[in-house]
Order: sequence, then C-alpha cells, then structure tokens
Amino acid sequence: MAESACLSTMHEWESPDYEPSLPVSEKSNPLTRDIDRASANCIVRMLQACDAQMFQEETGATYQRLLSKQVVETLMEVAKKVEHILKDPQDSVVVLSGCGTSGRLAFLITSTFNRALRELNQSSIYSYIIAGGDRALLSSQEAPEDDPKQGMLSLKKVCEGKKQVLFIGISCGLSAPFVVGQLDLCLQHPEVYTPVLVGFNPTHQARDESIPGCTFTFRSVAQRMQELTKSQKAFLINPAVGPEAISGSSRMKGGSATKILLEVILSAAHAATFTNTPITYKGILQHMRAYKKTLDVTFAQKEGISALLEAAGKSLQCGRRVCYLGWGSLATLGLIDASECIPTFGADYEDVRGFINGGYRELNNYEGPLGPDFCIAHEDFLHLVLPFLNDQDIVLLIYTHSDDVSEVAKLARRVREKTSNLHAVYHRVDGDTAAAVQQEDINKLCLSSLKITWSSPASGILAHLQWELSTKLLLNTVSTGAHVLKGKIYQNYMIDVQVTNSKLYCRATRLLQKLSGCPESQCEEALLKTIYRVDKLTADITSSDIATHTRTARNRTKVVPLALVCLLTGCSLMEAETHLEQQPIVREAVEACLS
Ligand code: F6P
Repeated sequence: MAESACLSTMHEWESPDYEPSLPVSEKSNPLTRDIDRASANCIVRMLQACDAQMFQEETGATYQRLLSKQVVETLMEVAKKVEHILKDPQDSVVVLSGCGTSGRLAFLITSTFNRALRELNQSSIYSYIIAGGDRALLSSQEAPEDDPKQGMLSLKKVCEGKKQVLFIGISCGLSAPFVVGQLDLCLQHPEVYTPVLVGFNPTHQARDESIPGCTFTFRSVAQRMQELTKSQKAFLINPAVGPEAISGSSRMKGGSATKILLEVILSAAHAATFTNTPITYKGILQHMRAYKKTLDVTFAQKEGISALLEAAGKSLQCGRRVCYLGWGSLATLGLIDASECIPTFGADYEDVRGFINGGYRELNNYEGPLGPDFCIAHEDFLHLVLPFLNDQDIVLLIYTHSDDVSEVAKLARRVREKTSNLHAVYHRVDGDTAAAVQQEDINKLCLSSLKITWSSPASGILAHLQWELSTKLLLNTVSTGAHVLKGKIYQNYMIDVQVTNSKLYCRATRLLQKLSGCPESQCEEALLKTIYRVDKLTADITSSDIATHTRTARNRTKVVPLALVCLLTGCSLMEAETHLEQQPIVREAVEACLS
C-alpha cells in the first residue's frame, strides 16, 4: 500500500491535469512538497527519489524519457556526427553552449574530451560558450541569458573560418534567448551549422514569450528544428526527467541529465574513432545504465551524506561558511556547486566557496585568471579564508585515489589547525590499496570520511565521469539540503529568488500568484513596487521593459518575500521590511503571514 502510494507520487507530475500551465522543468515536484520541514535524513531520501526519476521508464505517450527508444537513437545519430568530425577535424568544430549551469557543464565536458584528445596526440575539436563569459563559470551572470544577439555573435566568433560546425545548444527549460539566438543562426546557415538542442521539456512546452528584437520564440525555433529532424539536418534531445526537487532549480536534474547525455554521445564517438568500437543502440544504453548505477552507488552512502548535509546546514544557520577543497575535475564541480548557491538561494559569496588545486592553471578556462574577486586556488584559501575559520565553519575535502593523496593529507593538517569541522569525500576503486597509509592519516584528521568505492572501471574515462556525476549529486544534495535547513525554501519553492532575468521575473510573478492567491496583475504590481522600492508605481516604471526591471532588481534583496508580505497583509513596503527584519528566516516570515 505504502509502496503503491509512493509510486503514484513518483508519477503524479506526468498527469495532464498536474499544473497544466507549466512546463515540466518549472512544475513543483510532489515528492518534495514538505522538504522545508524535513530532517536531514528525509531531505536526502527525497532528493534521491527525485534523481531516480531521471531513469524512470516511459509510462505512456505523454513524455519521452532518458532511456526511450527515440532518445537513444538520436544520441546514436549525433554521436555519428561527432565521429565524422573526429575523423576529419580540419576546419570543423563541435560547440557546446548554455547559460548558468548549462554553460558550466558545457565547459566541464569540453575540457574533459579535449583533454582525452590531447592524450591521444589529437588536436582539440571542442569549444564552449557560456552566456556572460568565463565569469559566469564562477558567479551568477543572469542578464546575458536574455540576449539572443550576444549568443549569436559569440557563436560566430568561435566558428570563424570553420566550414563545418556541430552546435549543441543546452537550455534545460527550452527557454534561454541566448541559446535560441544561436540556434536561429544555425538554421539560417545549414551549409555550415548542424544544430542540436538539449533540454528537458517537450517542444510544445518550450517558452513562447516574444523576445525583444526577434521574430521568433524559443518554441517556434524548436518546432522548426523538429521538422528538420526527419532529414537529420537538426537534432532534438529533450526527454523529460521530472520536475526539480526545488521548483525550477535546473542545476540539479537538468544539469545531471545534460552531463549524462553529452558524455554518452562524446564517449561513443571517441570509442568509434579511436578504438574501432561501433556506435550501437546497446552500447549507448549500457553507458546510460552505468550512470544509473552511479546514482545507486552514491546514495548507498545516505547516512554519510545526511551527516554532511546536517553539518553544512549548522554552519549556514549560524552565519558561517562551507568550503570545498577539491582536486582535478571534482574540484571544478565544487566551484560550480558553490557558484550556484548565490542565485539559487540568495546566498552570500562567502557562504559556500570552492577551491581547486593549481587554481586557474588546473581549471584551464579560456580567459585564464578572472581577477581578485575570483580567487580559487588552494593557496588563496590558505591566505584569504583559513585564518578566519573556526569550528563552526565546515571544510570538505573532495578527491580520488588517483590524485596526490599526500597533498590532501598535507592540506588536511593545515585546516585541522583552525577547525575540527573537517570532512572528506573520496572515490577509490575496489581493491586499490595505494595511498592507504595517507588515507588513514586523513581519516584521523576528519570528523567524517565518506569513502565511495567503485568496482574496477570499464574504461579510465568512464570511471572518472562516474566519479564526477557522483560528486555533483552529492554536493547538490549537501548544498540544497543545507539551505533548506537554513529556512531558505518554502514548501519546495525558492521564495527568495533573485529577479535578474526575464525567466526569473516570470517565475517570481507566478510564485506570488500561487502563494497569495491574488491575480497576476496585482502580483506584478507588488513585484515592481518592491523592485523600485516605492509604494506607488509611476508611469515611468510601468512603461519600462522587463530588462529595465531586472537590471534594477540586481541591486535589491528579498524582493519576492517583501512583495508577498505586502500582498498578504496589505501593509506598506516599509512595514514589510520591518517585518522581515524581525523574522529573517524567510520561510517562517511567510508562514507567519499566511497563518
Ligand atoms: O536564470 C538562471 C538559471 O535558471 C540558472 O539557474 C540555470 O542554470 C540557467 O538559468 C540556465 O537555464 P536553462 O538551462 O533552462 O537555459
């Protein structure tokens, strides 16, 4: 009985009656309705169940899923296109592009596969584009996401002089104007560009709002592409993976599924080119299943993850920090997770920070060091952060046994001088006893050590990709859960959302409607009043466009909570501010107003 109830909650979102006006990527997940009141243990279980939805089989005609026949076949077709370029790379490029997390994953994946090519003495063929440039790898730069022209120009730039371009545009919500500008460019020049769209809504749910200066919407471009899929002049990879655990937070499942799909494509293409392994349906499916296993292996460590989440939550609750000290690409995942906390939870830059061994040399981004506001090396941590830490700050070491474990031990000793709140997560292959002595030393220094053991890898690169996904799942769980414990989430909505681009502006208005029950026009009015900090809207404000509103909102805090308090109580903006000052935990402030 309990199991069938749970099963129906797992699938509830698929019903056509469930939040019908919203695309899957914006729906709220029935599994996490009460996440705001859950214990650390329960949060981990909920997030695990949400992640497991990624691999659920297709249940009917409503949505295609990650393992659906059509998706697997499209992955094969795109892999063959990549193989073609790998075999004749002259004047060709494969470009991966996206905004926010989607762009960060484009960076991570292109880095991994270019490195694999270098190791084979082949030239690099992959390029990444992220809206807002490299700063967006480490911080939230959301306004550029709204700029289709910028997207188009940046694509033109990386493709200068190329005769053949495979363009992979990633937009989890099928919504980013930056990406759709690039797709439109591809459609205009089919002799050079073959466009691939990766996202997690069906095309009829793609965003259909008009884009200033454009004659197309995301939906119209996606539909044009759909037509072209028949002749393989364009490709759509858009399975549904279920609503995010925190509504709209596409960094989680959207990001994980992006990583899985693109790595499956590129791995298959590399194997076909360099080890004569043909691209087969079975091979693709097998690789996807290896990722499913990654979820199981990771969440088998539920207790350890809950303990980490609870410790991180405690640090954040008392205004202290969470620091990730990572090695290699796992460190990049730490940097990414930390950077996402700012826009997702309205976190302060110092709340969650990531650091990487070797700094920018190891990150190897196009623009190199990004200046004093973005210090990311372990040395930076030692000089700028460590001196101010105490036992309330949590430090997490993230590495694998193929990293220099004696370096890890050395850093652990330094950290231990300032805080006992030191933890480790590391990956090792079953039976590998190298570094056992240093590991023992590290274990003794740490309050908790989470050992994730993998059976011997099918191939070196697959093992590494699994460790990366496992680290992503774990860090997303810890940082999301810690912010839930801090009271940043109401039900499963991020109420303190930053209103820094048009998508977030619409999401904020919708959230106000949902929570206040007031009509849309009244909610938008309340939102504008809090953005401009006025009790009465002027004609100047109401005649401005959304870009002006979101630019103004960049310098504001607690915009949505303030608007909600005003809507629910009818009080002035100043009274709402006083109310929120008295009750800084947004969830509790909202609940007080609602009751
Ligand atoms: O606008 C912010 C954001 O929602 C990020 O959190 C996200 O990573 C990015 O937009 C990209 O979204 P999408 O992949 O749906 O275009």
